[in-house]
Amino acid sequence: MKVAQSLKALDRPCAFVPTMGALHAGHQSLIKIAREYCDEVVVSVFVNSLQFEDKDDLAKYPKTPEIDERLAQEAGATILWRPEVGDLYPGTEMKLSAGELGRRFEGASRAGHFDGVLTVVNRLFELVRPKYAIFGEKDFQQLFLIKRMAAQLHPEIEIIAAPTIREASGLALSSRNVRLSQEGVLTAQSISKALRAASTKESISDMKLELARLENEPKFKLDYAVIIDEESFELATESTVRPRALIAGWVDGVRLIDNAAMSRSLVKL
Ligand code: PAF
Repeated sequence: MKVAQSLKALDRPCAFVPTMGALHAGHQSLIKIAREYCDEVVVSVFVNSLQFEDKDDLAKYPKTPEIDERLAQEAGATILWRPEVGDLYPGTEMKLSAGELGRRFEGASRAGHFDGVLTVVNRLFELVRPKYAIFGEKDFQQLFLIKRMAAQLHPEIEIIAAPTIREASGLALSSRNVRLSQEGVLTAQSISKALRAASTKESISDMKLELARLENEPKFKLDYAVIIDEESFELATESTVRPRALIAGWVDGVRLIDNAAMSRSLVKL
């Protein structure tokens, strides 16, 4: 695996996994999926300050360069690209807007977050020019917005959605989990438990009731728990064919998000 700050034009198609570093088994699963599509797999590590409205959160974002290198190599990356700010933003690039959906759910608590995500991903796509780009379903709203942006600006790139990787307890892997106390880890597990419970329900109202139990979870500060229609990202109604639950909140002051397809949507596939 090559490790580089600058990226030379590639002479064969590549699959691309953009990351902000602090790699874990979740990222490794994205890299392994990328390898199924192409022999050349580019992994970028760039902590994108544009998507952090909370500068404290940015400062606390874990940095583990040696571990990143080892995990990327183990998973099958062929190029680990670590651009600096000046490599991505020499001064003339376009700032993208995620529009109205960018201000809902995750965007409501994180002003400008998705504008920052789309701006950097567009720039990364312009520089890497991949055939495929892999994004985790864990950030479901991000995935939706990136698919929409790519369809408009990079129709030649196929966006591949990768399933969320979970611990045996159900907790979704996240670079932020390292900031949870032992007790916080137990509290955080209530998120995936609520998703599982909701996914067994047939009606949207029963799914919502399961999610609402999180309001009583001590030490969990719920931000939102909603059922959306995963095709439109509008709130689900009883006639929605593919409902998905999205949850966000704080444990130990750490923001956690998770989501899951409701089994009703799987049954109707
Ligand atoms: O999901 C992430 O890690 C980031 O939002 C991304 C896509 C690498 C853009 O900075």
